[in-house]
Amino acid sequence: MTKLKKKNSKSMREIYNLQSKFTYISMDLGTANTLIYVEGQGIIFNERSIVAYSNTSGDVLAVGDAAFEMKGKTVRGVYLVEPLLNGVVGNIKSVSDMIRYAFMSVDSLHLLNDSIFVLASPSRITPLEAKGLEGVAKNLGAKYVYVEEEVKMSALGVGVDIHRPSGTLVVDIGGGTTDVAVVASGDIVVSKSIRIAGNYFTAEIQRLIKDLYNFDIGFRMAEEIKVKISSVTNSLIETDELLPIYGRDIHSGLPKSIYVKPQQIRIAFDEGVSRIINVIKLTIEEVAPELTVDLGKNGIFLAGGGALIKGLDKYISKVFGIPCYQGQDPLLSVINGTIAVKSRVKKVINIQEEYGVDTKRAEAILAKKAEKH
Ligand SMILES: Nc1ncnc2c1ncn2[C@@H]1O[C@H](COP(=O)(O)OP(=O)(O)OP(=O)(O)O)[C@@H](O)[C@H]1O
Ligand SMILES: [Mg+2]
Repeated sequence: MTKLKKKNSKSMREIYNLQSKFTYISMDLGTANTLIYVEGQGIIFNERSIVAYSNTSGDVLAVGDAAFEMKGKTVRGVYLVEPLLNGVVGNIKSVSDMIRYAFMSVDSLHLLNDSIFVLASPSRITPLEAKGLEGVAKNLGAKYVYVEEEVKMSALGVGVDIHRPSGTLVVDIGGGTTDVAVVASGDIVVSKSIRIAGNYFTAEIQRLIKDLYNFDIGFRMAEEIKVKISSVTNSLIETDELLPIYGRDIHSGLPKSIYVKPQQIRIAFDEGVSRIINVIKLTIEEVAPELTVDLGKNGIFLAGGGALIKGLDKYISKVFGIPCYQGQDPLLSVINGTIAVKSRVKKVINIQEEYGVDTKRAEAILAKKAEKH
């Protein structure tokens, strides 16, 4: 390693603790939800990932929940774009529009200048898409950009110590994808991803209601049913409560409301849950036997909105015979992970600034220092 030249005579400890002149901003760009954290302000945006544009001018009319309200309705003069459908960055311009609008709404556009951006990327992101995201961040004013793997961030966010050598299994069930990963020694040892997650369950609920009652319901209604009465086993359903649902009778073509019981909805989860169980099984089969023993001890952690399906943790634990925990605030797991890496990222950047080295080198210096202590 060539000798490093410091720009001045600060000690490494001083460099670590330098007050950064860059604002730390991090994001979870999810298929269903986008979350934005800004240092000093907290989570400034936690809404659906969707943008409404004017048909005529192409201007942004609304983003997030306000745009989601329009989904499934035909609103004259408006078209909707979901920038991250199916866990890939489908529309880079709308990602940028959504971020800019979110900052504008809280009068914080100026914070984008000279910022550090940490982006939790969708699992299936290609290097080209990652470059595209980096470009978006730079165009918005970022000085430094880090693209981190979402599943690693969710592991951190649910409180897994990813740096210990002993492996832990994390299952992030989002809107578009379920990502399964074994993390150990700060890295992902094995990971798998399937396109069976929240949106799939919602579509299954729509299909079930159609088959059972000749009744058409929209995506938003099906989402509401899922969030209110999702469950994987009947024994967990304590209530006989009827849920009113609104849609259209297929025969008459007229609007109608009917009532459903949680027990009638449960089968909509069967196929998806068994596919998720299967991908967990395939992931476990790929790790070395020593690590499998760790997994049995450390257990399985569930993250992402799909972790909120009632009884899923108990069911998974029963299937594999190892403990399974629902992470705290699963909808916040990724963003909490990006907040957890804040001080480390800032140290790396301080080193970069002070020595004029690239990220890789700065990380190596930091790792070496950590080894010594
Ligand atoms: N209580 C609940 N029960 C079941 N599902 C829920 C519940 N609350 C939210 N969800 C579902 O969780 C999903 C959103 O989770 P999350 O925000 O983790 O996804 P995402 O990060 O946007 O997607 P991805 O990670 O696939 O890109 C949605 O499909 C939503 O309907
Ligand atoms: Mg996610």
